[in-house]
Amino acid sequence: MDISHQITGHTKVIGVIGSPISHSRSPQMHNAAISKACLDYVYVPFHVEVDAIKDAINGFRALDVVGINVTIPHKQLVMPFLTSISREAELIGAVNTLTFSDGEIHGENTDAPGFIKAMEEAGASPPKGKDVVVIGAGGSARAIVVALTLTGAKKVTIANRTEAKAIALAEDLSDKINKNNETDGNITQLIGMGLTDARLSYAVSECTLLVNTTSATMDNTHPLLIDENWIQSSTTVYDIVYTPPMTTLLIAASNRGCAVVGGIGMLVHQGAIAFERWTGVKPCVDTMRAALA
Ligand code: ATR
Repeated sequence: MDISHQITGHTKVIGVIGSPISHSRSPQMHNAAISKACLDYVYVPFHVEVDAIKDAINGFRALDVVGINVTIPHKQLVMPFLTSISREAELIGAVNTLTFSDGEIHGENTDAPGFIKAMEEAGASPPKGKDVVVIGAGGSARAIVVALTLTGAKKVTIANRTEAKAIALAEDLSDKINKNNETDGNITQLIGMGLTDARLSYAVSECTLLVNTTSATMDNTHPLLIDENWIQSSTTVYDIVYTPPMTTLLIAASNRGCAVVGGIGMLVHQGAIAFERWTGVKPCVDTMRAALA
């Protein structure tokens, strides 16, 4: 797409930082949405090394950049340079969206609301009051468990290859969210366990929503991390992996009659929420999705 002819002294700059950054598909996604909405913005990828992060942030502020997405390895590293941070980002311990305004830099994490939006868009019932199983206990799992807890899920079982990480994640978020009573009295029970825990088959067979946050399902030769026979047809199965669009888990769940949702929706919606924050305009999510494809 050639957008250079549209750039003038009025054009506002948004973008993304990471290292590496050349693989990022965010520029296609955001620039397509900018064109569709006829906005005078441009979204630029910036390769920023770890030791240059402070200079980069100060540079963006000096250059009156409107907003920046943050990807690996900077999601935690940028945090000390922010003037404010959303509660979700604080709980997740990582930011993916910076908004620059009047010398202030606000950090948030749009992965959590992006996940909820993607579920809504797919027609899945809201997590409030429901039992959920999350496979994995890394950064993506943390964002999703924060989203589920803040929206009032009844019980979230976190099952991970490394049991100790699942238990630590459940205990940490339970302490931080439930003890502060941040969810209008909807206390979420958070349980961490290993993938071989005998309680997992029951948790999977009883849950309304099953979420995979591991990269294991990207590889179609990798065995499923849970027994597919545990999955009931009434369960919605969500996989954050978006390549391939139908992962091994989603194929198995679909064959069992489940509603299934792939990871592209979360990718699109986390971007759409950032786009609206910066421009004040709701982007066309179908355009963003098509640009990613
Ligand atoms: P992300 O930020 O994308 O969540 P991460 O923090 O590296 O990435 O976390 C990856 C998660 O996927 C972890 O829960 C990891 O399990 P471990 O904690 O035991 O490492 C899980 N994972 C990745 N590959 C896996 C595999 N082949 N089998 C089981 N779990 C896997």
